[in-house]
Amino acid sequence: MNQEETPLYDSLIQFAEQRPISFHVPGHKHGALFHNEDILRCAAYLDQTELSGLDDLHAPEGIIAKAQQLAAAYFGAKHSRFLVGGSTVGNLAMILGTIQQDEAVLVQRNCHKSILNGLELAGAKPVFLAPEYNEAKARYTHPTPHTVYDAIKMYPEAKALILTYPDYYGTVFDLKSVIDAAHAANMPVLIDEAHGAHLQTAESLPMSALQAGADVVVQSAHKMAPAFTMASYLHVSEESTVPVGIIDRYLRMLQSSSPSYLLLASLDTARKYLATRTEENMNELQQAVESLRSLLAQSDCWEVESPDGDWLKIVLLVKPDYQPRQLAAELESHGVYPELVTDRHILLVHGLESLTQDELQRLREVIAAVGSSYSKRTPVHEVRLFTQPITELAISYSEMEKMQEKFTVWQEAVGMIAAESVIPYPPGIPVLTKGEIVTKQHVEMIQLWKNSSISFQNERIAEGMLTYSK
Ligand SMILES: Cc1ncc(COP(=O)(O)O)c(C=O)c1O
Repeated sequence: MNQEETPLYDSLIQFAEQRPISFHVPGHKHGALFHNEDILRCAAYLDQTELSGLDDLHAPEGIIAKAQQLAAAYFGAKHSRFLVGGSTVGNLAMILGTIQQDEAVLVQRNCHKSILNGLELAGAKPVFLAPEYNEAKARYTHPTPHTVYDAIKMYPEAKALILTYPDYYGTVFDLKSVIDAAHAANMPVLIDEAHGAHLQTAESLPMSALQAGADVVVQSAHKMAPAFTMASYLHVSEESTVPVGIIDRYLRMLQSSSPSYLLLASLDTARKYLATRTEENMNELQQAVESLRSLLAQSDCWEVESPDGDWLKIVLLVKPDYQPRQLAAELESHGVYPELVTDRHILLVHGLESLTQDELQRLREVIAAVGSSYSKRTPVHEVRLFTQPITELAISYSEMEKMQEKFTVWQEAVGMIAAESVIPYPPGIPVLTKGEIVTKQHVEMIQLWKNSSISFQNERIAEGMLTYSK
């Protein structure tokens, strides 16, 4: 298929150019009602609905079907689906389409909350695979292959293996061997590849999950490719034993009946963009990112991690006596906005094109200035969270439904069952998930992150959390 084509985007442009008279939704009437908001009027140009010739995401036969086929051809899938609710909706649909009530499923514990929400909606029995703590990186990465192999042996009845690949920081592992082991046990592998839509643009980037043989893969196009926020893909592989029909059924339930054509068009053009990157483009980009790493390494405030996966992720490992949140605030005060700040890291996500000379000059000035007027802190002690490699919830999701929740202060929370997940955001990976027993380490970790000004998506996090009381 010709990857230069963008059938969906082109049809929307042709449609708008006819200057049609609108007797239909949306109410902005091709943007005319955005009287004083020129930029919104511009965006509204492509914000169409399911008019003749513009197809229907929920029963595609025309331009959307063609655009999805082009995506499938590029990514190497049997079927690709366009998502307008982020990888979030893709993760929910792939789980609901694969796992039923009370069925066991092997799942990487440090997964995004959408995976855990999917498991709860399905009423599944999650078997958590703890990630390994990487001392050099000062963070959890992924479960070791041995943890996965052990879990496959211990739970041969599990209906799927769910992993995140690559992680937020671009770290990868030998996914192919793990997938082969799961397939040998007849388990389909579902991959949250939210951070990896761009992996097929260069040989020097890690192998994509589809290339490694995954059955269903979800990618946030908006994270690493030029697509609008929420625009994402779901792919089903040629060999997948998970039928696409059932995933489609859930997507029809979970996605809006009025999906945004702006998002859909950006999925069409993002696929063309990715498919037409050349090896030369990507080699130049890799060199530019390397130079940027060297520039960042001139600061005394952090070490720049050497990439061992996705080289577009630049991880600054902040020295223990600096406070990452304060350094990030300094960067922001100079107009430089990082993606993520933890108690030890600042993550910069490089785009698929090099910075301009002007941007580089600004960065040089910022890097020279950052941290200079800074009072150092006493290094914080580290807390280890996942002490057991393979764990289950203390009670099932269906039991939780019958129990009453109450608010418990931190001093009394240890030993109780969590009735809510505690979620630092970003990255949206629960430190404590609903149904787990609260441990001393959880409480210490939450306090440590609170003291490092990490934001949580929980009310009253300073005082305590919801727990179950029978
Ligand atoms: C690993 C992972 N999976 C899924 C998601 C959800 O993606 P989206 O924002 O596209 O819904 C995120 C968001 O940050 C994520 O980091």
